[in-house]
This record gives sequence, C-alpha cells and structure tokens, in this order.
Amino acid sequence: MKNHSEKLAIIGGGTIGMSIAIPLSQNGYSVTVTRRNTDKIRELKDYGIEISNDNSKAVEKSDIIIFALKPYDIIPEMEKLKKLLEGKIVISMAAAISLSQMNEILKKSYLVRAMTNIAAKVSSGFTPFSVLVKDEKIIKKVESVLKSFGETQLVEERYMDALTALSGSGPAYILTIIEAMMYGGLKVGLPRDLALKASYQTVLGSAKLLAESTEHPSVIKEKVITPGGVTIEGIFELEDLRLRTAIMRAIESSTKKSNEISRAIEEKIRKK
Ligand SMILES: NC(=O)c1ccc[n+]([C@@H]2O[C@H](COP(=O)([O-])OP(=O)(O)OC[C@H]3O[C@@H](n4cnc5c(N)ncnc54)[C@H](OP(=O)(O)O)[C@@H]3O)[C@@H](O)[C@H]2O)c1
Repeated sequence: MKNHSEKLAIIGGGTIGMSIAIPLSQNGYSVTVTRRNTDKIRELKDYGIEISNDNSKAVEKSDIIIFALKPYDIIPEMEKLKKLLEGKIVISMAAAISLSQMNEILKKSYLVRAMTNIAAKVSSGFTPFSVLVKDEKIIKKVESVLKSFGETQLVEERYMDALTALSGSGPAYILTIIEAMMYGGLKVGLPRDLALKASYQTVLGSAKLLAESTEHPSVIKEKVITPGGVTIEGIFELEDLRLRTAIMRAIESSTKKSNEISRAIEEKIRKK
C-alpha cells in the first residue's frame, strides 16, 4: 500500500463515486464518501472508508475534494461549500461542467476537470484531466489520485466533451459489442456462459495486445486475416453493415450532446 498522507472526500457516492472510492482507499488515501442516503453506501465501511451525509464536515477535514454529482447538481453544491473549499484541490468528475464555470464560484481553489469511466471500479479506468492553472506540484498530486483507478493524462480542456463521449461513455459501446458477440455465439449454438466468456476475454485480450504494442490496430488486425480464410468472411459483413461508421457516429452524437449540456448549463448560470 502506498502511504499517501492526504485526506480525500468524494461528494456523491453514486455509480462513479462508489467506483473510485475503493481503489483510492486501497491506494492509501484516507477517504470519506458522502450522499444523502448513506444506507446505499454502507458496504464502503468494510473497506475502512468513512461514509457521511454531511458534505461540509467531509470537505472541512479533507485536502482533496472530488465532486461526483450529476452535472446540474455540481454548481449549486459548490456554491454552498465555497468557503470550505478555499485553498483545496477540487476535482470535478462531471460531464459538461467547464473549468471557467467552476472558477466563477471557486476562485480560491485549485480546479481540476476530470472524466473517468466505470472501469475505474477495477482500477482500469481512463481519466483524462484538465487544469486551470499549470502548477506542477498540484498536477503531480492529481495524477497520483487519478492513477489510483487506472490510466490518466493531462489534456487541453477543449478535448473534454469528445473524451466524455469516447472514453467516459465508451464502456457502454464496448459492452454493447460484447453482448452482440455473445448473441452471435448463441446464434451458432454455443452455451451462454462460454459465449460470454469467449466474447469479453477476446475484447480484453485485443485491448491488452494493442496497449502493449506500438503497432496501429489495422496492422495487428491484418495478422488475423488470412486470404480466403474464416476472418475475412466476418470482416466483409462488418464492412457491409458499416460497423465503423456506426461507432464513429455514436461518438460524434455523444460529443454533440455533451456540447449541448455544457451550453445549457452555461445559459442557466448566466440567467442567475
Ligand atoms: N456513470 C458513468 O459511467 C459516468 C462516466 C463518466 C462520468 N460520469 C459523471 O460522474 C458524475 C456522477 O455520475 P453518476 O453516474 O455516478 O451519478 P449517480 O449514480 O446519480 O450518482 C450521483 C450521487 O450523488 C448523490 N447526491 C445527490 N445530491 C447530493 C448532495 N447534495 N450531496 C451528496 N451527494 C449527493 C446521489 O445520492 P443521494 O440521492 O443518496 O444523495 C447519487 O448517488 C456525473 O456528473 C457524470 O457526468 C459518469
């Protein structure tokens, strides 16, 4: 276990808050998770994680605060906690909330906008992040927090809506593909458990192969396709039914939605 001295509060113990809490605690952070209905996060206590329905108290005793609330709930909650957040590192996990929107409220905090995904739960998330002020010491601390639940990378904020669509929503696309592969297996008579295992293990293995290689996916793909063989029959169907176009469209549409939500939140703030 790494020995981090920082105390960390996660405001919002829902899907994402819960997913990151356990890896953070296992990485040595002293973690408090809040939500209004604490009954739903009782299991966290078994991991030595404190649970609370008092955001102020959790913020007060912590050095780093992670907001894992729904986008529309973040700004009002930051307003309430503004004074207590001064001088602290504040990481927002929300889609669509920009650093400048947060900065209008939290002028005296170190602001970070991050976008993780549900694979954080098994320490295999991808969490790109952006900062308002490039302070190397703060960036190192943030990287250390985010690396607790997978890979991370500092990026320009203008890429955040696209990354929300690609890697934030990405597990939903990949799980749809895994489900489709399993159905393919069922269609040709494989037992359900075997079809599912063969599907997810193939996705896991292909991703690992790519991650550990310097080659482009198309180069690795070519190694599976033999002339007149089995694979090219399947590839022909995928090309005919435009799988690549469908996935490109999914990411483009999700990015547009993320842009739309950002604009709607911006308008709401301006109207205040
Ligand atoms: N789900 C994903 O795969 C995913 C991926 C990437 C990014 N995100 C981002 O992560 C953020 C959280 O999403 P989510 O899917 O985890 O949502 P979620 O499951 O609805 O979690 C939000 C949690 O916040 C709690 N909450 C609401 N108001 C609160 C308050 N005032 N104080 C403390 N807790 C409060 C809610 O519990 P109570 O009602 O009991 O308070 C709820 O459990 C979003 O901004 C989203 O954009 C999500």
